[in-house]
Amino acid sequence: MKRIAVLGSGTGSNFQALLEAENLGGEIVLVISDQSGAGILEKAERAGIAHDVVTGGGLCERILNRLDGIDLVCLAGFMRIVKEPLLGAFADRILNIHPSLLPKYPGKEAWVQAVEDGASESGCTVHYVDAGVDTGEVILQARVPVLPDDTPESLHARIQVEEHRIYPEAIRRVLS
Ligand code: GAR
Repeated sequence: MKRIAVLGSGTGSNFQALLEAENLGGEIVLVISDQSGAGILEKAERAGIAHDVVTGGGLCERILNRLDGIDLVCLAGFMRIVKEPLLGAFADRILNIHPSLLPKYPGKEAWVQAVEDGASESGCTVHYVDAGVDTGEVILQARVPVLPDDTPESLHARIQVEEHRIYPEAIRRVLS
């Protein structure tokens, strides 16, 4: 069984979806957050999964120091750029979920970008993490419509339903 670490800064709904997924091909054994009050930590605590807060300078090095025995790193709402030495140590073993159809709307609050752009369609992407911002090789995408009366929040909610479906599927593919 592969050992998975999840990194997140927010509420952790994607982490929860991974926890509940069947036949993931790996086991989530560690959660790391850069935000001490993040919901993802509370969810990890409730699930009995080891969790840790890492903040401040040298973040990626200090995260890497905690990843002994980890096979795959999954970013789930992790709002930091992954840099060296973490990136090189886990080359092709870091995945991210992004709330748009990359290469459209990289960076922050992609759901706001889509609404402000007047897009008729958006979605989500699971991709490998490379040195760029949301530029790594795409593993899986799902599309959702953007409706005329959508707010950024209503669009994000629709995108998240698909995120929770495709992230487990992408991990299954990578680990099989
Ligand atoms: C998700 O929508 C994820 O795609 C996004 O943050 C949200 C986290 O939600 N990530 C990014 O925007 C990364 N650039 P969650 O904490 O409920 O999983």
